Amino acid sequence: TGGTGGANTSEEGSAGALLASEAPLPDPFTVALPIPPVLKPVRGDGGTDYYEITQKAAKVEILPGLRTEIWGYDGIFPGPTLVSRRGRRTVVTHRNELPVPVVVHLHGGRTAPEHDGYPTDVIAPGGGKDYVYAMEQHAATLWYHDHRMDFTGPQVYRGLAGFHLIHDDAEEALGLPRGRRDIPLMILDRSFAADGSFRYPSLDPTLTKTPGVTGTYMSGVLGDCVLVNGAPWPVLDVSTVRYRFRLLNASNARRYRLRLDGGPGFTQIGSDQGLLAAPVEHESIEIAQAERFDVVVDFSGHRVGDEITLVNEHGSGGTAEVMRFRVTRQESDDRVVPDRLADVETLSAGAVTAEREFVFARGGAHAHGMSLWTVNGKPFDPETIVARPKLGATERWIIRAKNVEHPIHIHLAPFQVVGTDGDDDPGPFNHGWKDTVNLDNGGRAEILIRFDGYRGRYVFHCHNLEHEDMMMMANFEVV
Ligand code: C2O
Ligand code: CU
Repeated sequence: TGGTGGANTSEEGSAGALLASEAPLPDPFTVALPIPPVLKPVRGDGGTDYYEITQKAAKVEILPGLRTEIWGYDGIFPGPTLVSRRGRRTVVTHRNELPVPVVVHLHGGRTAPEHDGYPTDVIAPGGGKDYVYAMEQHAATLWYHDHRMDFTGPQVYRGLAGFHLIHDDAEEALGLPRGRRDIPLMILDRSFAADGSFRYPSLDPTLTKTPGVTGTYMSGVLGDCVLVNGAPWPVLDVSTVRYRFRLLNASNARRYRLRLDGGPGFTQIGSDQGLLAAPVEHESIEIAQAERFDVVVDFSGHRVGDEITLVNEHGSGGTAEVMRFRVTRQESDDRVVPDRLADVETLSAGAVTAEREFVFARGGAHAHGMSLWTVNGKPFDPETIVARPKLGATERWIIRAKNVEHPIHIHLAPFQVVGTDGDDDPGPFNHGWKDTVNLDNGGRAEILIRFDGYRGRYVFHCHNLEHEDMMMMANFEVV
């Protein structure tokens, strides 16, 4: 399925230009699904666990027989999975052995501003930083990734992303699938040059076009090879029981519509910020960049020998398939999905003290003859604060997307979607507490958001990483 050196398609459901691979890609479902290793703390004391991560380049085998240089947390891609316990402070010491400045953001974390990975708060090459996380939040599937100003897209693309899970007692008491049946799945797309290296267009802002690609790259970079946990279209052997999969779309610009072809539906148990009040059934799941869907899949209706393919209904060719499950063992199931999962507070419209509107669109500002991606017509400026919510306040934000779809992420403050596209309901994929909301071109979301935890300056932005790098970001300051 090797490429021709460049194609220009904007696939349905995604914004961007497709970069075709020049290296031969493997047949799908021939590589075993890797599970990122869980990082062990270097030490712990009364209330804190301490971890160390070195960011460095490494050569790894992603495509069989070829070496790909990655930039990885501890030199692996995805990075090691961190597992925190609610109520235990987590300190992660990052050392930067890469040739470029880096910034670490814990996506979904309720983090003090000086540890949140502000885009200009860089660790220089050779330097280090202790990131301190209070972990006073519920069990959830978070992830950590690079957040360097103007260069988040290329740095995440080279491999700087990993899972950070939080567990708590309430969740553990539910009897959900656990251990080897609780599996994080980091889904993303990449494109490979003939020698196996990642293909990513130059981010030189004077270039609006990439040789061989006829669309402008600033719309977003789409690869033609789907990786799950760093492996191309992998396969996982399963038993005839329930599994919990923590779905993360860590792609730069691709959105997926996931469905289990020949298999059961998904029972959603959690969203970006943790468990839902009650499970929600889905035939398919629309997942934008940075969103997480925590799902249980029940293979008990299957027999040994069945194969179930996780497909992407927005894709075509190679991007229409994601991975495969192969039923290889008969087993009886001791795990359950209870009807009630968690007490989830509902934010009340009556508590709203301010209303704001933000339009994510192209235009309003230009650089090098290009129209930039902006928020309310303004490109990102670290010195400009567009909103000053009060600590503890609940606000209503109206978020609108124009030109193409935009997944919008707000740091620090989780929110609840109360309306979408003029309807008074969150829509099928916005249940529970969210930190990222997926908007179609022309879409509108109404959210209730509460600014708890810390005062200080934080960003919110589009999580199409090329849009983010092209200035689609703004500051709020909790006062
Ligand atoms: Cu996942 Cu500000 O990013
Ligand atoms: Cu965007």
